[in-house]
Amino acid sequence: MATINQNFLQLQGSYLFSEIAKRRTKFIEENPNAQIISLGIGDVTRGLPEAVTKAMHSAVDELAQSNSFRGYGPEQGYDFLLEAIIQNDYKARGIDLQMNEVFVSDGSKCDVGNIQEIFSQDAVVAVQDPVYPVYVDTNVMAGRSGSFNKEKNQYENIVYLRCDADNNFKPELPSRKVDLIYLCYPNNPTGMTLTKEELKKWVDYAKENNSIILFDSAYEAFIQEEDVPHSIYEVEGAKEVAIEFRSFSKTAGFTGVRCAYTVVPRELKAKDADGNDVTVADLWNRRHTTKFNGVSYVTQRGAAAIYSPEGKEQINSLVDYYMTNAGIIRDGLKSLGLDVYGGVNAPYIWLKTPSGLDSWAFFDKLLGEANIVGTPGVGFGQAGQGYFRLTAFGSRENTEAAVERIRKLSL
Ligand code: MLT
Repeated sequence: MATINQNFLQLQGSYLFSEIAKRRTKFIEENPNAQIISLGIGDVTRGLPEAVTKAMHSAVDELAQSNSFRGYGPEQGYDFLLEAIIQNDYKARGIDLQMNEVFVSDGSKCDVGNIQEIFSQDAVVAVQDPVYPVYVDTNVMAGRSGSFNKEKNQYENIVYLRCDADNNFKPELPSRKVDLIYLCYPNNPTGMTLTKEELKKWVDYAKENNSIILFDSAYEAFIQEEDVPHSIYEVEGAKEVAIEFRSFSKTAGFTGVRCAYTVVPRELKAKDADGNDVTVADLWNRRHTTKFNGVSYVTQRGAAAIYSPEGKEQINSLVDYYMTNAGIIRDGLKSLGLDVYGGVNAPYIWLKTPSGLDSWAFFDKLLGEANIVGTPGVGFGQAGQGYFRLTAFGSRENTEAAVERIRKLSL
């Protein structure tokens, strides 16, 4: 009989957002008339921008004709999309990238989950706490986590970098040497950001310790403040130590369409078992071409269209829409005297649960009494206990209604 990968048995419960969906479904079954407002999983609600759908329609028409039909495309992405990314997302900010440093994919969740495969089994992994659960769980599956300590609600071999109100949600450098550091900015779930100087501390640490930073920048498009860096490569020398992940999911309504990209600079090296330098981009390319057949042509045409003048305008108004929602939630909750964080450069609002409720107790209260689904902070890690996340991705109507419902609760 086949034996399983034992590491999978170290995984705790179900994936956070599946658990929330399960509880929501159960509540609806028991309360079929409840008008639920979902501000839980960060899923967008606005339609695709017109520039995107136009480009996708015409791409479909091209595929319908044998003379313009395309089958398998380059696994790394079509040149037209790579060029648009490099030009608009990087060159325009003074960062030079080559075509072979950008890898288009079907999502940042997949990329941040898969990236660990190219590093050694004994790599020491550091994550922020609270953290997007994919970073942790994929390392558990790979056997890097050690066993789960139920009391601490943490894995023994993972280095957790606590982010709470005491440090303004900015992690301290690890006290021991780590090999892989997952950083997410603008942060999911806290919605907080780092300045360039703060980011530089991490780049310096990585250089001194031969570590690699896995920089998840899926929410970059939501940055509003001038002094917040958009890319880790704005820090000098970061190309030698960092991989950056970006996504069209939240920016352009692609959560269902699926398209993202990962930047692996040629300067980034890691050691092989004999101590020789290996170019990480070559390994990622090897993995990508082996396990992935590229994002569909139609999708890539849609993604490229967001860089057209109309596309940019439409994206800006999408971002404005969601960030106005963020302001409504943030200001509404603040006016109730709650401690509220994030929501300024990110579509997530992170709040301290009222009356000392733990995160799941507040989830149940919000669902039961206000019919609002949010995300319990503890689902992102122990440091998230006593916190709660709401997203700004709902409709305006639902966002306003949610704040009004919360206002009526006795907190
Ligand atoms: C979230 O709610 O944290 C995100 O939607 C998860 C994701 O993007 O996979």
